[in-house]
Amino acid sequence: MNTIKQYVQENKQRFIDELIELLKIPSVSADAAYSKDVIRTSEAVKISLEKAGCQFVEICETPGYPIVFGEHIIDENLPTVLVYGHYDVQPADPIELWTSPPFEPVIKTTDIHPEGAIFARGSCDDKGQMYMHVKAFEYMIANNNLPCNVKFMIEGEEEVGSKSLSWFVERNQEKLSCDVILISDTGMISNQQPSITTGLRGLSYVEVEVTGPNRDLHSGLYGGAVANPINVLAKMIASLHDENNHITIPGFYDNVEELSLEERAEMAKAPFNLDNYKKALDLNDIYGEKGYVTNERNSIRPTLDVNGIWGGYTGEGAKTVIASQAFAKISMRLVPNQDWEHITELFTKHFESIAPSGVTVKVKPHHGGQGYVTPIDSIGYKAANMAYTETFGVPAIPVRSGGSIPIVALFEKELKSKTILMGFGLDSDAIHSPNEHFGIFNYLKGIETIPLFYKYFVELSK
Ligand code: BES
Ligand code: MN
Ligand code: MN
Repeated sequence: MNTIKQYVQENKQRFIDELIELLKIPSVSADAAYSKDVIRTSEAVKISLEKAGCQFVEICETPGYPIVFGEHIIDENLPTVLVYGHYDVQPADPIELWTSPPFEPVIKTTDIHPEGAIFARGSCDDKGQMYMHVKAFEYMIANNNLPCNVKFMIEGEEEVGSKSLSWFVERNQEKLSCDVILISDTGMISNQQPSITTGLRGLSYVEVEVTGPNRDLHSGLYGGAVANPINVLAKMIASLHDENNHITIPGFYDNVEELSLEERAEMAKAPFNLDNYKKALDLNDIYGEKGYVTNERNSIRPTLDVNGIWGGYTGEGAKTVIASQAFAKISMRLVPNQDWEHITELFTKHFESIAPSGVTVKVKPHHGGQGYVTPIDSIGYKAANMAYTETFGVPAIPVRSGGSIPIVALFEKELKSKTILMGFGLDSDAIHSPNEHFGIFNYLKGIETIPLFYKYFVELSK
């Protein structure tokens, strides 16, 4: 029998080539101009699962983009692993900042990836990480050592809030029943130090609109005499944090879980170098909520950030104008116990209440989801840790991530199953940014580690 290490060595070029083909399809879910490509990607994923040897694969239609569902049942009495991933990607813009086109994948080396990384939108988030599961499954089928049942659920709307997936999960509990959910859509500390994500933040995403005069005005004739919606919006946004960078929305922190000093001391053990952190981002200093360190600010603390702000004249040269309207998109990252719908209400009420007379304000909720934490004494966590320990030579460290995968909390609610987040990306892989990439080392290590998760999960389930 071929070991997974040998199998990866013998097939690595094909694994890379296949991923590159998948990355060429611009499956941007946020932009309707790419809808044909998104659908084409679902078909490519279906074919890849069939080729890997999955008994049954189907494309499930939804009110939005389709979900690829696959199932390989070897024995009803054995455990079932449900693999979740997403085939949609973030928009590529600003496109001019890419050093190579986002949908023409190329391999380049970086300081962190001396053996090369695939540069393309979606390489790490999440096509590359999702495809590791297809290839790990291919190995287990080809070598006749798949130890349990597997289901695949690969969606195409993760980057826009997974609306159709919620719809699908609520209607298909039986079909999706499983013993554990396995996801590779997060990161790890470094290529020398694996980690397992034990927490995700929740999210509330809103858009705000401030309206002043009924048309754009001459800023000389009217300036100073009417409210300028952009000035007002900037002031309102600035007031959402106090001088300690605490969020000022009444009730915002009411349900926030405060970690014990022991838990915080445990977190502080994860390797972190502030100088390198600053250097990687070309920052002269860090910034954030008083009383917390960087690794806490971006994981166990809730935040509020403007993601985009616009209005008025932004073209070439100068135009003297007071805009009729100003807009912003705002995200709040939430921690466990904060309910995203409640937070959206608190935000709306507060934002409307701070609007000065002279303007009207509208808040439009976009999407959101609950945060998630998972215990480290579960069979799934232990199996993942055993798998990482074997392939990296050191045990994994549990880490709470600042990112969100809102569907994970829904899986627990609807399917009553825990999720194990085995991520292989690095923070420096630039997901959602120009020049996203995924290390060849990480891709192949992922393929090598996943079958060991299956093996240990089944052993520990006995
Ligand atoms: N894969 C990411 C989430 C992630 C990345 C979690 C790294 C932890 C570490 C996912 O695709 C994502 O981008 N999620 C969105 C939320 C979604 C509702 C748009 C996010 O976190 O902004
Ligand atoms: Mn993702
Ligand atoms: Mn993403």
